[in-house]
Amino acid sequence: MKTALYTNLQKKIIVVTLVVSLAPLFILGAMMYYQFARIYTIYTGEEIKNRARSQAESVDLFLKERTAILSAMADTHSFEDITNEKNLAHIFNVMNSRAGAFVDLGVIDEQGIHRAYVGPYKLKGLNYYKQPWFAEVISRGVYISDVYLGFRQLPHFIIAVSRQEEDKLWILRATIDPAIFGQIVRSAQFGKTGDAYIVNEDSVFQTNSRFNGKILSECRIDTKLFGGHTTLIEKEDNGKKLLYAGSRLKNVKWLLIISQEPAEQMSGLMVARNIEILIIFAGILAIVIATVFTSRLTINRLKQADTRMNKLNAQLVQSDKLAALGKMAAGVAHEINNPLAVIMQKTGWMKDLLEEEEFKESENYEEYNDSINKIEEHAERAGKVIHNMLGYARKMEPHLEDVNINETINQTISLLNNYARNNNIEIRTELNDNLPVIASDQARLQQVFMNLISNAIDAIGKNGIINVNSKCKDSDVIIEIKDNGPGIPVEEQKKVFEPFFTTKQAGKGTGLGLWICYTIVEKLGGTLGLSSKTGKGTSITVKIPIVIPEKK
Ligand SMILES: Nc1ncnc2c1ncn2[C@@H]1O[C@H](COP(=O)(O)OP(=O)(O)O)[C@@H](O)[C@H]1O
Ligand SMILES: [Mg+2]
Repeated sequence: MKTALYTNLQKKIIVVTLVVSLAPLFILGAMMYYQFARIYTIYTGEEIKNRARSQAESVDLFLKERTAILSAMADTHSFEDITNEKNLAHIFNVMNSRAGAFVDLGVIDEQGIHRAYVGPYKLKGLNYYKQPWFAEVISRGVYISDVYLGFRQLPHFIIAVSRQEEDKLWILRATIDPAIFGQIVRSAQFGKTGDAYIVNEDSVFQTNSRFNGKILSECRIDTKLFGGHTTLIEKEDNGKKLLYAGSRLKNVKWLLIISQEPAEQMSGLMVARNIEILIIFAGILAIVIATVFTSRLTINRLKQADTRMNKLNAQLVQSDKLAALGKMAAGVAHEINNPLAVIMQKTGWMKDLLEEEEFKESENYEEYNDSINKIEEHAERAGKVIHNMLGYARKMEPHLEDVNINETINQTISLLNNYARNNNIEIRTELNDNLPVIASDQARLQQVFMNLISNAIDAIGKNGIINVNSKCKDSDVIIEIKDNGPGIPVEEQKKVFEPFFTTKQAGKGTGLGLWICYTIVEKLGGTLGLSSKTGKGTSITVKIPIVIPEKK
């Protein structure tokens, strides 16, 4: 039950500590991550927008350059010069070496007839009068078309300029290589999820898109979503979030679109997040280990303190019990003392009476005499017990004097030595010469040693060894009396200090010896310890505090 209590307490300590210390860590982690993500999203959007803007600028520049060189050629040549195909081929070469990306070059007259042509297709002589771009060039002077199939049945777009020469109007027209143009646009795509393409006003692809469709196919994105110059929109596509940045071109009504999964752009954030998670986990681990360790330490300390307290409590209960028993015994002894005195006095008188003639002649004289002797004997024994108890009770307060412990032990042993030797018991001593002289009660200590050594002799009976040794430890003198007698069974060990507990035959033991020892030692401020093992022997330790006598 106690163990469950400790486990419960430990659990509570661990839970409380973990909650208190981990909560701020989690909050901090979440806050940091949120801020990171916010800044990164802003940064990612800005980055894609910038890319779209700068790419639109370079496409614009590309178209502007091509238009400029085409215009220059038309400006510097007459219709007659330019319809000469040798000249036209030369012009075409110059244009491609200065700017590049031109597929072919042709001159068309007022009626829409293709009068001269340089390029890979058979387009000379064709009539363009009905082509949508033709009217546009005539009306505007400069025109960049959307991508269309035309006579060649291949997707392409043209740049055309018109010139008025006296009463004649003619058109110089060049086709732009869609492959080169597409490559320039695509150079803005980034990573695994990036896409870059151009759509016209009607959402038709003007270049191939990586994921969304081929050139001239319909684009699913509504171009009206994109506002003025450069706009960023966010769209959900197949459950994936996509960022689109659209930038309008200046020379044509085209829209350059760059798209990107922000997750890819944010891979830097993912690394930062993983590091953060790692650090937090390491922190959690450290906290958990430290918590478990310290709580275990605390609980162990608590356990130790509890055990110590329980032991102390048991000792206290024991000494309280012994004191109460002692008081009661002394009271009873006092009450019995007076009747005993009367009995003794009366038996003496009866003995005297028996010596008179009339009783001596009685046939029961012997029996009377025996009985009176027995009464006397037993009353005397009772008197001895009472004397012991009263003698002790009367002189509760010890009388302090200079005591040499070793000398006291030796004196006691010399009193008992004869008795021991008769029973073939050897009393060995191992006394520390450096014991200080202490302020104590010599007669009482002698009484203690006497009782303990007699008990040892009684326990051994015949043939054995008693070891008596003394030493100093900390602030105590410790005297140990050890015998190799039969020992005391565990269940009796608690009772031996109680008054009247004896295992000896009636008439031999009073059961007061150890009780008196216990009480005397306690009065002297010391303790009495018992350690015994049946079959091995008994050891009794007397601990007396060192009290240095006052100088007289
Ligand atoms: N050294 C010892 N070895 C074994 N038993 C002992 C020893 N000392 C005391 N005892 C036991 O403790 C009991 C109580 O001892 P004590 O109080 O001196 O009373 P008594 O000697 O009159 O019996 C003894 O009867 C004996 O059973
Ligand atoms: Mg005894």
